[in-house]
Amino acid sequence: MPETSKAIVDADIGLQLVPEQASDYATQVDQLYFALLGLSGLLIILLTGLILVFGWRYRQSRPGERGAAVSGKTSHRIEVGFALMLGLLFAGIFYWGSALYMNLYGDTQTDITINVVGKQWMWKVQHPDGTREINTLHVPAGETITLRLTSQDVIHSFSVPALRLKRDAVPGMYTTVHFKATKTGEFRLFCAEFCGDAHSRMRGRVVLMTPSDYQNWLSRNGAAEGPALAGKRHFRTYGCSGCHRSGSEASAPTLDGLYGRVVPLANGDTVEADSAYIRDSIVQPQKHVVAGFQPIMPSFSGQIPESEIFEIIAYIKSLKPGDWRMDEPAGATQ
Ligand code: CUA
Repeated sequence: MPETSKAIVDADIGLQLVPEQASDYATQVDQLYFALLGLSGLLIILLTGLILVFGWRYRQSRPGERGAAVSGKTSHRIEVGFALMLGLLFAGIFYWGSALYMNLYGDTQTDITINVVGKQWMWKVQHPDGTREINTLHVPAGETITLRLTSQDVIHSFSVPALRLKRDAVPGMYTTVHFKATKTGEFRLFCAEFCGDAHSRMRGRVVLMTPSDYQNWLSRNGAAEGPALAGKRHFRTYGCSGCHRSGSEASAPTLDGLYGRVVPLANGDTVEADSAYIRDSIVQPQKHVVAGFQPIMPSFSGQIPESEIFEIIAYIKSLKPGDWRMDEPAGATQ
């Protein structure tokens, strides 16, 4: 039986035209939304009105009677004018919408990156210091937060209406989304992708706090062990350290100073060693074989929970160049 989360949020949803706005982004999205709604409303009124007026004015008076064919410069001007005007209007709306989209999903410098794993049927959250929570997300308002999402099983969708934020959590890949809250309080969190029979119960709360309250919350609930330290432990448990260390019998690349480096591959390509690359290397090691090495690493697909892969990445990220040369790494005690 999969674990099922307890329903935290009561079912009381008042009648609201739009959800509360808890970020600048929410205000901007609503402006676009109401502009589109207004424009569509105007077009409906205009078109229906014209249909009625023309229907009345040009109604058939005698069977077989027809108006003269429309031709000439004036009608061409009107047609070209309409096409240009509508084209510009829609290009403007496209620009408006895509600018907002990039704001949410594009690359942004962020203060805090929080890992989120979707799982039938709960949201598992891990903060940068290792603090964990389930079905709640505590974040400081006024700081730019990045959520790095993935899924343990099927596609889920992390949705916070008050932030106008929705991002799929997809198994096998990392997706990110940014936001900056403008107020404090508790807001609803939903799964917005049908993901199984308890999908409707996969919901929770987002708690927006002042930065000092957030720090207090972290120190009250803080993890005993940071993610890098936990990652080091997993690195040993899963046997990674057996091959990936300097002086190992097996020929495997050492990983100190790896994060962020450009890695040359056996097929002549290069790849930047970011989180997604490291995750791929763990679950599909044949995907990017490092130049000068044999594709002998077994896949760990399905053997390591996503939350532990995040911690292994944190550990590898923490390794500075030369770290493994100075002292024998985790593997020494295997
Ligand atoms: Cu997870 Cu719906």
